[in-house]
Amino acid sequence: MNQPAFAGDLFGAMPAPASIEPVTSKQPAAEDDIAAELGQWMTPAWAAEELTSIYFGDLSARDHVLEPSCGTGAFLAALPEHVPAFGVEIDAALAEQARSRSGRPVVVGDFLATEIPFTPTAIIGNPPFKQSLVQAFFERAWDLLPVDGRVGFVLPCYIFQTASVVSKLSRKWGMRQDMIPRNVFQGLHLPLCFAQLTKGAGRGMVGFTLYHETDAVTSMRKRYRAMLDTGEKSVWAAVTLSAIEALGGEASLPEIYGEIDGNQPTETPFWREKVRQTLQRRAVQRTRGRWALPETLAA
Ligand SMILES: C[S@@+](CC[C@H](N)C(=O)[O-])C[C@H]1O[C@@H](n2cnc3c(N)ncnc32)[C@H](O)[C@@H]1O
Repeated sequence: MNQPAFAGDLFGAMPAPASIEPVTSKQPAAEDDIAAELGQWMTPAWAAEELTSIYFGDLSARDHVLEPSCGTGAFLAALPEHVPAFGVEIDAALAEQARSRSGRPVVVGDFLATEIPFTPTAIIGNPPFKQSLVQAFFERAWDLLPVDGRVGFVLPCYIFQTASVVSKLSRKWGMRQDMIPRNVFQGLHLPLCFAQLTKGAGRGMVGFTLYHETDAVTSMRKRYRAMLDTGEKSVWAAVTLSAIEALGGEASLPEIYGEIDGNQPTETPFWREKVRQTLQRRAVQRTRGRWALPETLAA
Protein backbone atom coordinates (compact mmCIF):
# COMPACT_ATOMS: atom_id res chain seq x y z
CA MET A 1 0.00 0.00 0.00
CA ASN A 2 1.25 3.52 -0.74
CA GLN A 3 2.16 5.64 2.23
CA PRO A 4 0.23 8.86 2.84
CA ALA A 5 1.97 12.10 1.93
CA PHE A 6 1.38 13.52 5.38
CA ALA A 7 2.81 12.53 8.72
CA GLY A 8 1.24 12.12 12.11
CA ASP A 9 -2.10 11.21 13.56
CA LEU A 10 -4.95 11.72 11.14
CA PHE A 11 -7.21 12.47 14.05
CA GLY A 12 -4.80 14.85 15.76
CA ALA A 13 -7.25 17.73 15.46
CA MET A 14 -10.30 15.75 16.51
CA PRO A 15 -11.86 16.30 19.91
CA ALA A 16 -12.78 12.68 20.61
CA PRO A 17 -10.61 10.28 18.61
CA ALA A 18 -11.07 7.40 21.02
CA SER A 19 -14.80 7.40 20.38
CA ILE A 20 -14.48 6.25 16.78
CA GLU A 21 -14.57 2.66 15.70
CA PRO A 22 -13.45 1.74 12.20
CA VAL A 23 -16.30 0.56 10.03
CA THR A 24 -14.02 -2.27 8.93
CA SER A 25 -13.52 -3.42 12.52
CA LYS A 26 -12.74 -7.08 11.78
CA GLN A 27 -9.26 -6.40 10.39
CA PRO A 28 -6.11 -7.50 12.25
CA ALA A 29 -4.66 -4.87 14.62
CA ALA A 30 -1.83 -3.70 12.32
CA GLU A 31 -4.25 -3.11 9.46
CA ASP A 32 -6.62 -1.33 11.82
CA ASP A 33 -3.82 1.13 12.61
CA ILE A 34 -3.24 1.86 8.95
CA ALA A 35 -6.98 2.17 8.34
CA ALA A 36 -7.22 4.65 11.21
CA GLU A 37 -4.20 6.61 10.01
CA LEU A 38 -5.67 6.94 6.54
CA GLY A 39 -9.14 7.77 7.90
CA GLN A 40 -10.68 4.71 6.25
CA TRP A 41 -14.32 5.00 7.34
CA MET A 42 -16.36 4.05 4.31
CA THR A 43 -19.62 5.83 3.53
CA PRO A 44 -22.55 3.38 3.56
CA ALA A 45 -23.80 2.80 0.01
CA TRP A 46 -27.32 4.03 0.76
CA ALA A 47 -26.04 7.31 2.23
CA ALA A 48 -23.72 7.95 -0.73
CA GLU A 49 -26.70 7.39 -3.05
CA GLU A 50 -28.95 9.77 -1.12
CA LEU A 51 -26.32 12.52 -0.81
CA THR A 52 -25.46 12.28 -4.49
CA SER A 53 -29.07 12.49 -5.54
CA ILE A 54 -29.95 15.33 -3.10
CA TYR A 55 -26.96 17.56 -3.84
CA PHE A 56 -25.79 16.45 -7.28
CA GLY A 57 -29.00 15.24 -8.92
CA ASP A 58 -28.49 17.77 -11.73
CA LEU A 59 -25.23 16.21 -13.03
CA SER A 60 -25.31 15.17 -16.68
CA ALA A 61 -23.13 13.49 -19.31
CA ARG A 62 -21.45 16.88 -19.80
CA ASP A 63 -20.07 16.81 -16.25
CA HIS A 64 -16.99 14.99 -15.03
CA VAL A 65 -16.90 13.93 -11.39
CA LEU A 66 -13.77 13.31 -9.36
CA GLU A 67 -13.84 11.29 -6.12
CA PRO A 68 -10.51 12.31 -4.57
CA SER A 69 -10.22 9.66 -1.84
CA CYS A 70 -12.68 7.09 -3.07
CA GLY A 71 -12.04 4.23 -0.62
CA THR A 72 -14.09 1.24 -1.75
CA GLY A 73 -16.02 3.45 -4.18
CA ALA A 74 -19.38 4.22 -2.51
CA PHE A 75 -19.75 7.60 -4.23
CA LEU A 76 -18.40 6.38 -7.58
CA ALA A 77 -20.95 3.56 -7.53
CA ALA A 78 -23.75 5.93 -6.48
CA LEU A 79 -23.34 8.23 -9.48
CA PRO A 80 -25.65 7.54 -12.44
CA GLU A 81 -23.85 5.62 -15.19
CA HIS A 82 -24.27 8.39 -17.77
CA VAL A 83 -22.24 10.82 -15.58
CA PRO A 84 -18.50 10.38 -16.24
CA ALA A 85 -16.56 9.79 -13.02
CA PHE A 86 -13.01 9.03 -11.92
CA GLY A 87 -11.50 8.06 -8.57
CA VAL A 88 -8.23 8.57 -6.72
CA GLU A 89 -7.34 6.42 -3.70
CA ILE A 90 -4.07 6.21 -1.81
CA ASP A 91 -4.57 2.57 -0.78
CA ALA A 92 -4.09 0.24 -3.77
CA ALA A 93 -6.25 -2.55 -2.32
CA LEU A 94 -9.18 -0.18 -1.78
CA ALA A 95 -8.66 1.33 -5.23
CA GLU A 96 -9.03 -2.13 -6.73
CA GLN A 97 -12.27 -2.70 -4.80
CA ALA A 98 -13.57 0.67 -5.99
CA ARG A 99 -12.77 -0.19 -9.61
CA SER A 100 -14.59 -3.49 -9.57
CA ARG A 101 -17.53 -2.16 -7.55
CA SER A 102 -18.17 0.94 -9.69
CA GLY A 103 -16.67 0.10 -13.07
CA ARG A 104 -15.00 3.54 -12.98
CA PRO A 105 -11.30 4.29 -13.56
CA VAL A 106 -9.46 4.70 -10.25
CA VAL A 107 -5.81 5.71 -9.92
CA VAL A 108 -3.71 4.85 -6.91
CA GLY A 109 -2.13 7.94 -5.42
CA ASP A 110 -2.27 10.90 -3.12
CA PHE A 111 -4.97 13.31 -4.27
CA LEU A 112 -2.72 16.22 -3.36
CA ALA A 113 -0.06 15.08 -5.83
CA THR A 114 -1.80 12.94 -8.44
CA GLU A 115 -2.15 14.30 -11.94
CA ILE A 116 -5.82 14.49 -12.96
CA PRO A 117 -6.20 13.94 -16.71
CA PHE A 118 -9.34 16.10 -17.12
CA THR A 119 -11.02 19.18 -15.67
CA PRO A 120 -13.59 18.01 -13.13
CA THR A 121 -16.87 19.91 -12.80
CA ALA A 122 -17.66 18.32 -9.42
CA ILE A 123 -15.52 16.78 -6.68
CA ILE A 124 -17.53 14.52 -4.38
CA GLY A 125 -16.58 12.33 -1.45
CA ASN A 126 -15.71 11.85 2.17
CA PRO A 127 -12.07 12.77 2.80
CA PRO A 128 -10.09 11.73 5.90
CA PHE A 129 -11.22 13.75 8.92
CA LYS A 130 -8.12 15.81 9.57
CA GLN A 131 -8.32 19.61 9.46
CA SER A 132 -5.02 20.25 7.66
CA LEU A 133 -5.71 17.52 5.10
CA VAL A 134 -9.26 18.69 4.44
CA GLN A 135 -8.01 22.24 3.88
CA ALA A 136 -5.35 20.87 1.49
CA PHE A 137 -8.10 18.93 -0.34
CA PHE A 138 -10.12 22.18 -0.67
CA GLU A 139 -7.07 23.95 -2.08
CA ARG A 140 -6.35 21.22 -4.62
CA ALA A 141 -10.04 21.14 -5.56
CA TRP A 142 -9.97 24.90 -6.13
CA ASP A 143 -6.96 24.52 -8.45
CA LEU A 144 -8.66 21.77 -10.46
CA LEU A 145 -12.22 23.11 -10.79
CA PRO A 146 -13.46 25.75 -13.22
CA VAL A 147 -15.39 28.73 -11.83
CA ASP A 148 -18.84 27.41 -10.73
CA GLY A 149 -17.34 23.95 -10.18
CA ARG A 150 -18.58 22.29 -6.98
CA VAL A 151 -17.22 20.30 -4.08
CA GLY A 152 -19.49 18.09 -1.94
CA PHE A 153 -17.86 16.46 1.10
CA VAL A 154 -19.03 14.56 4.16
CA LEU A 155 -17.10 16.28 6.97
CA PRO A 156 -16.94 16.42 10.75
CA CYS A 157 -18.49 19.74 11.87
CA TYR A 158 -15.27 20.77 13.60
CA ILE A 159 -13.75 21.47 10.20
CA PHE A 160 -15.90 24.64 10.27
CA GLN A 161 -15.66 25.40 13.96
CA THR A 162 -13.50 28.54 13.85
CA ALA A 163 -14.39 31.83 12.23
CA SER A 164 -10.99 32.44 10.65
CA VAL A 165 -10.97 29.11 8.75
CA VAL A 166 -14.47 29.63 7.37
CA SER A 167 -13.91 33.31 6.55
CA LYS A 168 -10.78 32.40 4.62
CA LEU A 169 -12.63 29.72 2.64
CA SER A 170 -15.55 32.03 1.92
CA ARG A 171 -13.27 34.49 0.13
CA LYS A 172 -12.83 31.90 -2.64
CA TRP A 173 -15.96 29.75 -2.39
CA GLY A 174 -19.70 29.99 -1.98
CA MET A 175 -20.44 27.74 1.00
CA ARG A 176 -23.37 25.74 2.30
CA GLN A 177 -23.44 23.11 5.01
CA ASP A 178 -26.23 20.86 6.27
CA MET A 179 -26.01 18.74 9.38
CA ILE A 180 -26.23 14.99 8.87
CA PRO A 181 -26.63 12.37 11.61
CA ARG A 182 -23.38 10.91 12.92
CA ASN A 183 -24.94 7.49 13.16
CA VAL A 184 -25.02 7.27 9.37
CA PHE A 185 -21.65 5.71 10.25
CA GLN A 186 -21.82 2.88 12.77
CA GLY A 187 -19.84 3.74 15.89
CA LEU A 188 -18.93 7.31 14.88
CA HIS A 189 -19.31 9.79 17.72
CA LEU A 190 -18.70 13.07 15.90
CA PRO A 191 -21.19 15.67 14.65
CA LEU A 192 -21.18 15.52 10.86
CA CYS A 193 -22.21 17.78 8.02
CA PHE A 194 -22.42 17.65 4.27
CA ALA A 195 -20.56 20.67 2.90
CA GLN A 196 -21.04 22.10 -0.56
CA LEU A 197 -18.52 24.61 -1.85
CA THR A 198 -18.93 26.38 -5.19
CA LYS A 199 -15.84 27.93 -6.72
CA GLY A 200 -15.98 31.72 -7.02
CA ALA A 201 -15.83 34.74 -4.75
CA GLY A 202 -18.81 36.69 -3.40
CA ARG A 203 -21.28 33.80 -3.35
CA GLY A 204 -22.14 33.99 0.32
CA MET A 205 -22.68 31.32 2.92
CA VAL A 206 -25.72 29.26 3.91
CA GLY A 207 -25.82 27.50 7.27
CA PHE A 208 -23.09 29.67 8.83
CA THR A 209 -23.86 32.54 11.20
CA LEU A 210 -21.57 35.11 12.92
CA TYR A 211 -18.43 33.82 11.16
CA HIS A 212 -17.36 37.07 9.45
CA GLU A 213 -18.40 39.04 12.51
CA THR A 214 -16.42 36.81 14.89
CA ASP A 215 -13.42 36.94 12.59
CA ALA A 216 -13.56 40.75 12.61
CA VAL A 217 -14.09 41.02 16.38
CA THR A 218 -11.32 38.55 17.26
CA SER A 219 -8.79 40.53 15.24
CA MET A 220 -9.66 43.85 16.91
CA ARG A 221 -7.34 45.44 19.43
CA LYS A 222 -7.81 43.71 22.79
CA ARG A 223 -9.19 46.68 24.73
CA TYR A 224 -11.96 47.24 22.17
CA ARG A 225 -12.81 43.57 22.04
CA ALA A 226 -13.10 43.57 25.84
CA MET A 227 -15.58 46.48 25.64
CA LEU A 228 -17.68 44.50 23.19
CA ASP A 229 -17.58 41.37 25.33
CA THR A 230 -18.61 42.99 28.58
CA GLY A 231 -20.54 46.13 27.55
CA GLU A 232 -24.15 46.40 28.57
CA LYS A 233 -25.53 48.63 25.84
CA SER A 234 -24.27 50.98 23.16
CA VAL A 235 -21.13 48.86 22.94
CA TRP A 236 -20.25 50.31 19.54
CA ALA A 237 -20.62 53.85 20.86
CA ALA A 238 -18.26 52.99 23.73
CA VAL A 239 -15.70 51.57 21.31
CA THR A 240 -15.93 54.47 18.84
CA LEU A 241 -15.74 57.25 21.40
CA SER A 242 -12.97 55.54 23.28
CA ALA A 243 -10.98 55.19 20.04
CA ILE A 244 -11.34 58.94 19.38
CA GLU A 245 -10.19 59.61 22.93
CA ALA A 246 -7.15 57.36 22.43
CA LEU A 247 -6.35 59.34 19.29
CA GLY A 248 -6.23 62.62 21.23
CA GLY A 249 -9.89 63.64 21.04
CA GLU A 250 -10.07 64.18 17.29
CA ALA A 251 -9.43 61.84 14.33
CA SER A 252 -10.33 60.98 10.76
CA LEU A 253 -12.43 57.93 9.89
CA PRO A 254 -9.42 55.89 8.62
CA GLU A 255 -7.53 56.73 11.82
CA ILE A 256 -10.46 55.53 13.92
CA TYR A 257 -10.71 52.28 11.92
CA GLY A 258 -6.96 51.74 12.29
CA GLU A 259 -7.07 52.36 16.04
CA ILE A 260 -9.86 49.76 16.52
CA ASP A 261 -8.45 47.25 14.04
CA GLY A 262 -5.02 46.84 15.57
CA ASN A 263 -2.33 45.15 13.55
CA GLN A 264 -4.44 42.60 11.68
CA PRO A 265 -7.21 44.43 9.84
CA THR A 266 -9.90 42.13 8.40
CA GLU A 267 -11.04 42.76 4.86
CA THR A 268 -14.59 44.01 5.36
CA PRO A 269 -15.23 44.36 9.07
CA PHE A 270 -18.96 44.55 9.65
CA TRP A 271 -18.38 46.99 12.50
CA ARG A 272 -17.28 49.89 10.28
CA GLU A 273 -20.92 50.68 9.57
CA LYS A 274 -21.59 50.74 13.32
CA VAL A 275 -18.68 53.14 13.86
CA ARG A 276 -20.03 55.45 11.15
CA GLN A 277 -23.50 55.38 12.72
CA THR A 278 -22.05 56.23 16.12
CA LEU A 279 -20.07 59.12 14.67
CA GLN A 280 -23.21 60.55 13.03
CA ARG A 281 -25.19 60.26 16.28
CA ARG A 282 -22.68 60.90 19.02
CA ALA A 283 -19.61 62.72 17.68
CA VAL A 284 -18.99 66.18 16.26
CA GLN A 285 -17.79 66.60 12.68
CA ARG A 286 -14.97 69.09 12.23
CA THR A 287 -13.63 70.32 8.93
CA ARG A 288 -11.76 68.05 6.49
CA GLY A 289 -13.49 64.85 7.62
CA ARG A 290 -12.27 64.91 11.18
CA TRP A 291 -14.39 63.72 14.07
CA ALA A 292 -14.21 64.92 17.67
CA LEU A 293 -15.71 63.90 20.98
CA PRO A 294 -18.86 65.81 21.92
CA GLU A 295 -18.39 68.67 24.41
CA THR A 296 -19.84 66.58 27.23
CA LEU A 297 -17.13 63.91 26.83
CA ALA A 298 -14.14 66.07 25.94
CA ALA A 299 -12.47 66.65 29.31
C1 LIG B 1 -13.20 8.48 5.11
S1 LIG B 1 -12.58 7.31 3.89
C2 LIG B 1 -13.86 7.53 2.73
C3 LIG B 1 -13.75 6.72 1.51
C4 LIG B 1 -14.81 7.03 0.46
N1 LIG B 1 -14.67 8.40 0.00
C5 LIG B 1 -16.19 6.82 1.01
O1 LIG B 1 -16.91 7.81 1.14
O2 LIG B 1 -16.55 5.70 1.33
C6 LIG B 1 -11.18 8.26 3.29
C7 LIG B 1 -10.34 7.55 2.25
O3 LIG B 1 -9.29 8.43 1.88
C8 LIG B 1 -8.13 7.67 1.59
N2 LIG B 1 -7.03 8.64 1.65
C9 LIG B 1 -6.40 9.11 2.76
N3 LIG B 1 -5.53 10.06 2.40
C10 LIG B 1 -5.60 10.19 1.05
C11 LIG B 1 -4.94 11.02 0.11
N4 LIG B 1 -4.03 11.93 0.49
N5 LIG B 1 -5.25 10.89 -1.19
C12 LIG B 1 -6.17 9.98 -1.59
N6 LIG B 1 -6.83 9.17 -0.74
C13 LIG B 1 -6.55 9.27 0.56
C14 LIG B 1 -8.17 6.58 2.64
O4 LIG B 1 -7.38 5.46 2.26
C15 LIG B 1 -9.67 6.28 2.70
O5 LIG B 1 -10.00 5.25 1.81
